[in-house]
Amino acid sequence: MANRGGFSSRIGFIVAAAGSAVGLGNIWKFPYEVGQNGGAMFLLVYLICTFLICFPIMIGEIAIGRRAQKDAYGSYKSIGGKKWGTIGLFGILCGIMILSFYNVVAGWAFGYFLEISFGDLLQSEDFRSFFGGYVSDIWDNLIFSICFMIITAFIVVKGVSGGIERASKILMPMLYVILLGLIVYSLTLDNAIEGIKFYLLPDISKLNLETIYSALGQAFFSLSLGMGALITYGSYIDKKQNIISSAAMISVMDVSVAFLAGLLIFPLVFSQGQTPSEGPGLVFVALPGVFNAMGPVIGKVVGGGFFLLLCFAALTSTISLLEVPVAYLVDEKKLPRKAVVWMLAAFIFIVGLPSMLSQGAVESFSSLGFYGDKSFLDFVSEVFSDISLPLGGCLMSIFIAVKWKTQNLSDEISEGNESYKGSFMEKAINLILVYVSPILLGLIFINTVLDKFF
Ligand code: PHE
Repeated sequence: MANRGGFSSRIGFIVAAAGSAVGLGNIWKFPYEVGQNGGAMFLLVYLICTFLICFPIMIGEIAIGRRAQKDAYGSYKSIGGKKWGTIGLFGILCGIMILSFYNVVAGWAFGYFLEISFGDLLQSEDFRSFFGGYVSDIWDNLIFSICFMIITAFIVVKGVSGGIERASKILMPMLYVILLGLIVYSLTLDNAIEGIKFYLLPDISKLNLETIYSALGQAFFSLSLGMGALITYGSYIDKKQNIISSAAMISVMDVSVAFLAGLLIFPLVFSQGQTPSEGPGLVFVALPGVFNAMGPVIGKVVGGGFFLLLCFAALTSTISLLEVPVAYLVDEKKLPRKAVVWMLAAFIFIVGLPSMLSQGAVESFSSLGFYGDKSFLDFVSEVFSDISLPLGGCLMSIFIAVKWKTQNLSDEISEGNESYKGSFMEKAINLILVYVSPILLGLIFINTVLDKFF
């Protein structure tokens, strides 16, 4: 353990894992998914998925990592043999693909921070066309996402603990404060109540396969599950940590940030007469209006501050995404950490280029004929996150059910939590991991693939 690095404290792990979870998924993706998939009904399904399915899966991942003390592939392999290692490899592939487009969106957030603080974005007449112009501009995109990838790589080179742990402890609470402040403001706007109704009053007619699969994918993505990020982070913690309470804290933090982001965005969208189904541009189109209304000076400070915090939240997520393939190459192939980090960062950046160019810059990436004319970015995000992460979770539960066995899972969890064995929690987690998750996730996966591709 000593030479693999580790978290300096119990809080260090929770902060890092919560940092991985809280990111663009909460503030950028969650609101636009809610907007596109029927509002409150999506929120409801998302909450059920999070606490019923994802919470036990998070516990499973952390336990696997802590037992094996290895990267995602190595953990499955050392417990279950080479064949099972394939699940880990699949997760590593998903991590690479997710980071490839995530970094592009993080670049947008970084660009918005600069344009609001130091440029004249807030004076723009039409935030929608500003966003459209912005994401189709190749140079801005290139520069900002290169910057973001370099910063990510730089931190990952330094290892998992250190400055980032300390910075997170200050910046995460700041994100809450700024969100709460903006919510109070947005609730006073005309028509805000329409946004609240859209967000909080479920309409049963909106429940369909698309809603369920999107909400499930969103829950996995937002909690960083299904691809081995938490196996990798779990491998850096010691046996004294209580896995259950750590997982509970991480989940609650993640869900609360997403929930607050929705509470902020929908009143704004409705009071500004925008459409909730705007898609990936939603927060970039809805938010500048509020900052603009605050007047030039305050708007720049609050708006710039908001996007800066968003960049930070994204950074703690990109770090965890990059750490997954890095840990694999370092642990399994015995390659030097520093070289691996820079090589992977460059590679993943290149893999992300089509996503970057798919927002208007290059027509053939912007509208994929074989994929319902959606963009390349949508394609990668749906295939490697919405569909693959729940599949990864499904395979992990099958691994626990048939190979590792719940008895061993319980042994691992009860280290650091003596009252676990025989508890209701133990029974519930085993039931979900052995029966509910494999069957339910398996069925949803098959249905979604049939629905999307055939
Ligand atoms: N959970 C992160 C977010 O919400 C994204 C992420 C997914 C990070 C998977 C790591 C692994 O932004």
